[in-house]
Amino acid sequence: MNKALRKAIIAGNWKMNKTRPEAKALLEAIKPLVANAENNVEVIACVPFTNLETAVNTTAGSNVKIGAENVHFEKSGAFTGEISADMLVEVGVEYVVIGHSERRQYFGETDETVNKRTKAALAAGLKPIVCVGELKWERECNITEEVIARQIKLDLYDVSAEDVKKTVIAYEPVWAIGTGLTATPDQAEEVCAFIRATLEKLYDKATADAVTIQYGGSMNAANCAELLAKPNIDGGLIGGASLKAEDFNTIVQAAVEG
Ligand code: PGA
Repeated sequence: MNKALRKAIIAGNWKMNKTRPEAKALLEAIKPLVANAENNVEVIACVPFTNLETAVNTTAGSNVKIGAENVHFEKSGAFTGEISADMLVEVGVEYVVIGHSERRQYFGETDETVNKRTKAALAAGLKPIVCVGELKWERECNITEEVIARQIKLDLYDVSAEDVKKTVIAYEPVWAIGTGLTATPDQAEEVCAFIRATLEKLYDKATADAVTIQYGGSMNAANCAELLAKPNIDGGLIGGASLKAEDFNTIVQAAVEG
């Protein structure tokens, strides 16, 4: 299709893992492995807040970009425990994961707050990685497309075409996250193509063709090549496998191959 229009993006989502020395060691191991991917693949590590400064310093001058795992939508104020977009930008962060299913499941994240966070991130100059995905029973009830369309419409409400081109969409079926159950390449492609068709309806074809859509959910060194070969899967959001430099690099190299 129009994959040539988009740069592949492989992002690690470290979740609540790694102390600062561990983060530094992992990034030092990843950097030389992925250096060859510079022109073809955007390589990102999304790390816990406490690791951000270490991660930015460790990857300075390399092709590894750093992302946060969440951001609050207010600029500042009485929001104990929260981190603003400006704070992330000041540290040197470029990307931020928003609306991950673990945030939706365990921390009361809703499409409304995902939308607010997305707009706040874009306004500050961060590139959001907005996560969408259906639950197992929603797939069983055959309403995957309704669920995804609703999330895309609500999460991107009032986001301009220009801004949506800076936004990465991660399709992460909730039943596949951390479970070892991966969507088949055909299942993942079907939903990623549906996301692009939904973007085309909301915006236009050129805009939809410009948006990077990732698959996430038990993507690993063994299954990545088949997933990344699909025309609408432009990259991956990688949890467990991003914590091992060799495995993460195998996925990056599969994206280089396309
Ligand atoms: P997983 O996590 O690769 O461990 O399934 C993916 C994610 O949560 O982004």
